[in-house]
Amino acid sequence: MSYFVKVLADVLGVLYQNTGAALLLAALAMCIYILGKKQGAGPVVQAWIRQFRTNSSFRNCFFLIFYTGIILFHTLLCQKISGNPLANISGNWGIYDTARKLYTDNAVNFLMFAPLIILLFQAREEKDHTKKMPVQQVLVQGTEISFSISLGIELCQLFLKIGRFQLTDLFFCTLGGVAGGTLYWGYGRFRKKITEYIKELGGWNIRLWKPLTEKEIEEKALGTVDMTEDVETEADSAKEETQEEDLDPRYEAIEALVREAGDKLRNARPGEENIHKKEGLANFCTDYDTEIQRFLIAGLSEILPGAAFFGEEDTEGNSGALAEGEFTFYIDPIDGTTNFMFDYHHSCISVGLAHREQMIAGFVYHPYIDEMYVGVRGKGSYLNGRRLTPEDKPVEEGIVEFGCARYNENGIDWLFRVVKDMFQNSLSIRCGGSAALGLCRAASGSNTVYLELKLQPYDYAAASVILEEAGGVITQIDGSPITFHEGCSIIGGTPSAWRESKEAFEKYREEN
Ligand code: IPD
Repeated sequence: MSYFVKVLADVLGVLYQNTGAALLLAALAMCIYILGKKQGAGPVVQAWIRQFRTNSSFRNCFFLIFYTGIILFHTLLCQKISGNPLANISGNWGIYDTARKLYTDNAVNFLMFAPLIILLFQAREEKDHTKKMPVQQVLVQGTEISFSISLGIELCQLFLKIGRFQLTDLFFCTLGGVAGGTLYWGYGRFRKKITEYIKELGGWNIRLWKPLTEKEIEEKALGTVDMTEDVETEADSAKEETQEEDLDPRYEAIEALVREAGDKLRNARPGEENIHKKEGLANFCTDYDTEIQRFLIAGLSEILPGAAFFGEEDTEGNSGALAEGEFTFYIDPIDGTTNFMFDYHHSCISVGLAHREQMIAGFVYHPYIDEMYVGVRGKGSYLNGRRLTPEDKPVEEGIVEFGCARYNENGIDWLFRVVKDMFQNSLSIRCGGSAALGLCRAASGSNTVYLELKLQPYDYAAASVILEEAGGVITQIDGSPITFHEGCSIIGGTPSAWRESKEAFEKYREEN
């Protein structure tokens, strides 16, 4: 026991003695990295702080240099010049020295090298996909790296006469490296289980979003729940029912109209004669887009006389970006026009309703599989009448969807860099071709997040309420609020996936 206490005290001693110098070294090294890109001390400090907060590779490199600094200061720079550096080459393999005092150098070397190798692998994760390496490769690399570093240190000690050359040092440092590699590999594989276990142990396994109750899960499996059914706890259920009763009947009328428009879409088959080119590359409008928009404007004007319209297509009654009124409908008659042209059966009708500046209701209908998403501000979101309460899943636990359009390729390299990152961190990636459905699927929990660099308000207006009412977050990629008078970039998803996506855009911004 006293041996372990002594080892711990020695490790802490090493960390404590060398921390200040190593911290300075790491901070300066990362400043030099930033100086290569920026000019002037002010921007460097700001960029330093921003990078540290948002960029995980930057943080990894910082900690790696910091930790390497500790080892260097401990093993080389703080050593006293000794007599003969070749005395006792074999070193002491036991836990007592010649004076019968506890000898902890071997254990300290082992414990110092394990984290070093973990940090090194983490710093290379981004570039070399170390997370996916098989265990043999991790072990070989861990051995090679720790052996080379410790050999370098021992040779410096030998030739510069700042310590002793000892085989025990080489052996235990290398062993520490191998242990670090194994831990890194194992943690990469079992990270989820380990963190879940630790959270459970500490009682921190609280979800931000309310998880489904057992009854809800059962009902979900049977697919029997509708909006009026009792899906919450008893207290919540009473509240829900009142909300249902409170709901303006005009919302039901809008929903019925959107369904009708969906039937038109499902039954339509565009031929070449119905497809027209719009401005820009691969940008199309079909006669069905215009027809459905006209149908919606006529029907919605009856439901809410005096409302203004901001629709995608150029039809009468559509005041477009100039729409200004107490109430404004944002209409995308067919979101996923290209899919529609090629019979992909993945397009929808999207209608959002704004009261002055605030989007208050959204209706998105996927007619091919009869999925109706409805979100009403303050009353929740529903998919075919089923309340949406998805879990706050991070990117690594689900599917990421993104969108892009040939007529808008600004920043496309940046987007694809982020998408590659997301692909490597998630379970899979999709590009479905309908932004409204992509966002609604984040609301229902099918996607963790939806990303796109440029969309128009009618693409996301309806889905934004649905997502927010389901507990999700939707903003522009820099985190600023989405705009409804003009188009903007979009990240919409669970709070965790939204945060991670924002960080990914930030991380690759400078490379763009
Ligand atoms: C398009 C779709 C697509 C997105 C494009 C949008 P449209 O809308 O939402 O997923 O990537 O940027 O323009 O033209 O099919 O209504």
